[in-house]
Amino acid sequence: MSYNRSRRLFLGGSVAASAIGATGFTNLVSAQSTSAAASKAASVMYGPKPGVAKLNANENPFGPSPKALEAIAIASAQGGAYYAYPAAMTLLDMIAERHGITRKNISLSAGSSPVLSYAALAASKNGKILGPDLFWDTTSKAPEKQGAPEIVRVANTADLDIDLDAMYAAIDDSIGMVHICNPNNPTGKVLDPIKLREFCIKASKKTLVLVDEAYNELIDEPPKHSMIPLVKAGHNVIVARTFSKIYGLAGMRVGYLIASEKNTEWINRYGMGGYTLNQAGLAAAIASYNDNAFLTFSKEKIYEGKSMVMEAVKANGLTALPSSTNFIFVNLGDGNAEYFRQAMAEKDVLIRGIYRTYNNWSRVSMGKIADVKRYVDAMPAALEKMQSMQKS
Ligand SMILES: Cc1ncc(COP(=O)(O)O)c(C=O)c1O
Repeated sequence: MSYNRSRRLFLGGSVAASAIGATGFTNLVSAQSTSAAASKAASVMYGPKPGVAKLNANENPFGPSPKALEAIAIASAQGGAYYAYPAAMTLLDMIAERHGITRKNISLSAGSSPVLSYAALAASKNGKILGPDLFWDTTSKAPEKQGAPEIVRVANTADLDIDLDAMYAAIDDSIGMVHICNPNNPTGKVLDPIKLREFCIKASKKTLVLVDEAYNELIDEPPKHSMIPLVKAGHNVIVARTFSKIYGLAGMRVGYLIASEKNTEWINRYGMGGYTLNQAGLAAAIASYNDNAFLTFSKEKIYEGKSMVMEAVKANGLTALPSSTNFIFVNLGDGNAEYFRQAMAEKDVLIRGIYRTYNNWSRVSMGKIADVKRYVDAMPAALEKMQSMQKS
């Protein structure tokens, strides 16, 4: 059974059935009207409007998986209780077993953003945060909001890679943490694992090194690229992971940090720990963590979408960076990414606009194949519109 079909059957049948059973609703009429209201709400509140191709947030549009949906329904039916603890421990044990670590090496949060912010806040007490010019900097800006100095930024290379040598040279006593995303967002590029490992070992002798591996599962040979073994080997390195990307659970909010016991204990002081976790999200994460059929299916679809975009980029006389993620950074040449975004939005295709000063770079995330096709089909006219907006 295909994922789309089993998902449809599941939504049409067992979610409604289990919700009815678990909540004690016996009146079928009221259950049906509840479900009609729920689907109306779902189309307005919980996802993109019908007819909109949402390619602007690096999600997995095939998620949650059927197994996750089933787990969410069961856990949600028990949502009246404060009961995240057993599920949190189960998930911690699953993560710990995979990496040969203990529960105490893992800090869970509602998505990886909270725990990444706690790490930034904790580290900012020791000094400034150092990052590349272009990276997913949202959480490392948290200290700035409390009056700490801004992120110290190191220019990317001409190919928009993270310049590890320059980053290393920039570490001095004023730096409290180095923040690297690998693969990087918005470029989609992955670093050479040997060079990154060498960098992490050297740099972590001088300061704390954070490697955000949100897109690790989307690389070819994910384990080869992970810096988790460095945490285990005792280096001052912390690694972030999330269920928001390949696992298709961005809206369910589960992510985590892997670090030494000392570092997790120190970083956790900046958050509210288990109080921020929710049972439905944890249930979905547990059901998805080893669901290799769903993960393989998702990765294949994402790669199919990426080939379509790469072909369209070429056919329209443009280039793009090689992508190890579920998004592509397209070089618009002399084009303006904000105008291109607006031209695409007029066709109900949502993509990203300008990042910092990178005016001609445009990020598009992969969606369902039909939505990627809408991007591809809209490209020639949107590029023309962009050019005319630039002239006026
Ligand atoms: C590199 C990176 N890390 C972390 C996140 C945040 O993910 P979440 O808080 O949903 O785990 C994102 C989101 O796009 C990201 O690109």
